[in-house]
This record gives sequence, structure tokens and C-alpha cells, in this order.
Amino acid sequence: MEGPVPGTGPFQHGGAGPAAVRLAGFGFRHASRRAWAVQDVDLRIEPGERVLLTGASGSGKSTLLRALGGLLEPESGDAAGELTVDGAAPDRRRQRVGVVFQDPDAQLVMTRAGDDVAFGLENTGTPPELIWPAVDTALDAVGFDLGRDHATAALSGGQKQRLVLAGALAPRPGLLLLDEPTAQLDPDGAALVRAAVARAVADRSATLVVVDHDVEAWLPLVDRVVELLPHGGTVEHPPGWRPAPLRMPVRWVHPPGEVLLAGEAAGFTHRGSARPALAPIDVALRAGRTLAVTGPNGTGKSTLGLLLAGLRAPTTGRVAAAPTVTAGLRRPDRPPHRWPAAELATRIGTVFQQPEHQFLTGRVRDELSLGPLRSGAGAAQARATAEELLERLGLSALADANPFTLSGGQQRRLSVATALATSPRVLVLDEPTFGQDRETWAELVALLAEQQDGDRALCLVTHDAAVVTALADDVCTLGVPVPV
Ligand SMILES: Nc1ncnc2c1ncn2[C@@H]1O[C@H](COP(=O)(O)OP(=O)(O)O)[C@@H](O)[C@H]1O
Ligand SMILES: [Mg+2]
Repeated sequence: MEGPVPGTGPFQHGGAGPAAVRLAGFGFRHASRRAWAVQDVDLRIEPGERVLLTGASGSGKSTLLRALGGLLEPESGDAAGELTVDGAAPDRRRQRVGVVFQDPDAQLVMTRAGDDVAFGLENTGTPPELIWPAVDTALDAVGFDLGRDHATAALSGGQKQRLVLAGALAPRPGLLLLDEPTAQLDPDGAALVRAAVARAVADRSATLVVVDHDVEAWLPLVDRVVELLPHGGTVEHPPGWRPAPLRMPVRWVHPPGEVLLAGEAAGFTHRGSARPALAPIDVALRAGRTLAVTGPNGTGKSTLGLLLAGLRAPTTGRVAAAPTVTAGLRRPDRPPHRWPAAELATRIGTVFQQPEHQFLTGRVRDELSLGPLRSGAGAAQARATAEELLERLGLSALADANPFTLSGGQQRRLSVATALATSPRVLVLDEPTFGQDRETWAELVALLAEQQDGDRALCLVTHDAAVVTALADDVCTLGVPVPV
């Protein structure tokens, strides 16, 4: 049996200093799965150590991180072996742990910045008179200088994620767990978050485990790199190790063809908002060409994607499709946002910023055949298309899984496959390579390169500079937002 955590008074959760982590033969199998998500992990992380945890998409990184945080409910699956944080089961150490996930929006609960940080402190039993000083210290530590009263909704992605980090740091955790904390951020926002993490762990007052695919960016900040192997176990990379370079696709360059889809002074302002989410812009998606839309968080890249994809009506200007795209529509004079869903899917394929909100069925296989079936393909053909895409994207073993239980990277590959399944003339993909390891990145990018025949137009909204190099013919950089 364990005793009290040394040095931990009722209000000094971090008083015990950095945590020690021990795993021996640890494994976890999710309730709905036959395969173990994590298996045979032996790992010792000493107090104050900083570890980068990498591994293929689906290798169990998020599962392991949740296990460390005591966030896997016993009924959610089977655990094997041992896992302790400071000598006790992690669910007894939850108050010692600060966690940051990849999506800043999903983690901010309050409307004012300071309240969000205070919320975590209240939850961990901090006495009221210590809360606001602790909030200010934490905001300071992450370089958040907009003040406690700033509205959380009016922050850029990088600011939001630093605020989430402040919330995780304020209770002075002994173990800081970060799961792809910069995945949703532009390069500047990501650099600011890494700098804030570096400052927070500089004095080794917390043990750090960070999961990220951007190994190079984190190497200067960590002591060790541990890679989770897909079929169990880990490898430790020696100092000086560098990941293999990305495999780039073969490029076929096509002459610019006809404009398939155009935004003409297309802009969007949310109802009741003073500032446009997207300032009016002219863009043309041409057959045979790939347009990359880049720029900082908050400039309207995803909004532009939604307008071009026909998923949102512009509030100014218009989006118009060429007759070769509208052919077969009952009302070809209407703009894409007024096309029926099945007709839209065969003409403009889309991946949203959060495609996981888009899944419609309970099985990966069904998710892929749905589009072809709806647009009139026979069952056999729909199935063949689905199987081929599953194979290409390394999802065959998950064909019967529920899409909502896939890992982040698997979900993203599934949604790209879904967009391709109906062979649309136009593809609008928001962060298609999100959450991918080097292998799945290369396969996904190769698959997208194959879509670049002379007939099709691609639009990629992305922060991934390697994708731009690999696929883009034209780049549209949206401007820097008006400071708020
Ligand atoms: N809630 C869940 N239910 C069932 N299976 C899951 C769940 N979460 C993850 N998995 C599966 O466990 C494996 C590891 O997933 P995850 O830990 O998210 O991987 P990573 O973070 O390395 O991409 C994957 O095959 C994934 O599909
Ligand atoms: Mg993950």
C-alpha cells in the first residue's frame, strides 16, 4: 500500500516536485478491439526528465499518454503490467498531472482567459486567496500578455494553446503530458507554444512527456526520444538521432486547365461579428492545378475552404462552378452551397478542419462506401473502391472499427479517403496530413499526387510546409489578421 505523497499538503499538489514514472510490461486494449493499442512497454522516466514520445500513427501514443494521466476508465478496456506515477496508480495521482491535447478549442471552457486558468485551480482545491496570484504567474510563464479579462474566443490558435498550457501549469503539476499540442497551429503559434513549454520545464520542476510528429522541432527541448513500436515495445533513440527524411511524391506538372471553381470577392462574416472571418478574396481552382492556402491561424483559411467546398454560403461575393462541374445538376444555376448533399459529394470532395465531426456511420468500411452508394454506384463497385482506399491508407485492419474510436491520424486518413471515394472534380482538403507519421504522410501525399491528373483541381488548406513543397502549383497566403 502506498503512503501519502511526501511533501504534499492539501493545497500543494506540486509541492512534491517532479514525478517519477515507471512502466513494466504495460499494455492497454480498448474495449471494442481485439488488438492491444499499447503492449509490452518498459519505461522509466526519472523526475524532471523530458521525453519526446513518437511512433507511427495508431501506435498507441495517445492511449499511453491517457494512461499516464489516469484518464483511461477501467471499463474502457483491459490493462496489463504495471504503471505508476510516484509509486501509485495514475488515477490516484490525477492532481499531480497537467494535460494538454491537440485541439485548443476543445479544452477551453470559460469565456474569459483568466477564468479558464482559475477553473483548473479551483478544481484542484486551491484556496481562493491564492487563485488569482497563481493565475497571473501561470499566464506570465507561458508569455500570455493579453490579460486575464481577454475573451477566449478572440484568441489565435497559438494564444489559445498557450492559455490551455497555463491552465495545466497553474496547479504546479509534477507531470506534464502534451499530446500533439501544436498540431492545430501555424508555425509561429507552434514555436510560441514550444518556447512556453521550454520555459515551464527549464527548472525541471515537472517531468515532461510530449507526443509529437515534428521531431526536429522538439529535439532541442528534450533529453530523450522514445518511439512506440506498432506491435509492442519501444525503442530509445540515441542522442544525435535524426528521423529519416520525408519521401516526396513524383510530381506531374500539368498546364493550367479551365477554372472549375472560383470565389469572386467571396467573403464571410459571422452574424453579429464586427470583423470578417474571411475578407473578400478572388481565387480560382483550375483543372490540373493544386492551390495551397496558407497563412497564420485566424486569417480565414478554413472559412475559405468551407466556402469553396459549398458547405457555407459567402456573406459577400459568390462562389461559382464551371458548366463541366455543374453538368447533371437539376439546378445548375445554383451556387455549390445550395446543391443537394449527394450531388455536392460527387463534385466537390471535402475534408474539414475537424473531420471527426463529420462521420456518419458506425463502421470505417461503411463510411467509405456511403458516398459512392449515395451517388449511384453499385454495391460491388462501392465496396471495391472502399477496400482499395483502406489498403492504400493502412486502414484495412480497422475496416470494421467505429470511426469515432480511431486515433487522430487514422481518422484524418479516413476522411481524406472518404473525400476521394466519389472521384470528385474538385477536392478541398483542410489539413489533410494532420497527425501523420512519416510513412502515412508519404502514402497520403502520394495518393493526393495521383489525384493531380489534368482533370481535377485540388485546394489544400495547410500549415504543413512539406505538403506545399510536395503538391502545390500555386500558393495563396492569407494576410495577417488585424491585431485584437
Ligand atoms: N476509444 C477507443 N476505442 C477503441 N479503439 C481505440 C480507441 N482509441 C484508440 N483506439 C485504437 O487504439 C490504437 C492506438 O490509438 P492511439 O493511442 O490513439 O494512437 P496514436 O496516438 O499513436 O495515433 C489505434 O488502433 C486506435 O484505433
Ligand atoms: Mg494520438
